[in-house]
Amino acid sequence: MLTAILIGFMGTGKTTVGNVLAINTQQQQIDLDDEIVSAAGKSIKQVFAEDGEAAFRQLETTVLKTAFKRNGILSTGGGVIESETNRAVLEATEIPIIFLKTLPTVILERLTGEDAAVRPLVGQLGPAGLTRLWKKREPLYERISDLTILTDELTPEEVSERIETFL
Ligand code: S3P
Repeated sequence: MLTAILIGFMGTGKTTVGNVLAINTQQQQIDLDDEIVSAAGKSIKQVFAEDGEAAFRQLETTVLKTAFKRNGILSTGGGVIESETNRAVLEATEIPIIFLKTLPTVILERLTGEDAAVRPLVGQLGPAGLTRLWKKREPLYERISDLTILTDELTPEEVSERIETFL
């Protein structure tokens, strides 16, 4: 069974925290973006460029459903709550959902260089568009989560400790 699902905007540390949490609790980490890359046989950037965002979202829904059959900690991609199907799945589950919340100013500082290069939406939207997207998504993350952690001033280890205490 999955024991925790990490959600939140790009650059909030879902993958990094999920990795620490998985190590600390001796579980496997499943990263939804990695699952999409394996399923597509190409990078996220290539999926967006060659097949479009809608195709990416379909793949994301498929791999999310498959991930529910596995064991461990699930780190999702920031856009997992874009699909109504995904939101319904996440709202219905008993598995604890942890929202890693980071303010847009901090996110924009983080999403530069390689971190920006692997995320097509960063280049497409720019700072103002990303901030708008953050505001649109924020209530959706809040609604489906069981715990919100403001990560701005915490290390991944500290975030993981809080999740471990909660679980
Ligand atoms: C996306 C977030 C990314 C990745 C893709 C789209 C989004 O995952 O799934 O680039 O729509 O927010 P991270 O949140 O791990 O960066």
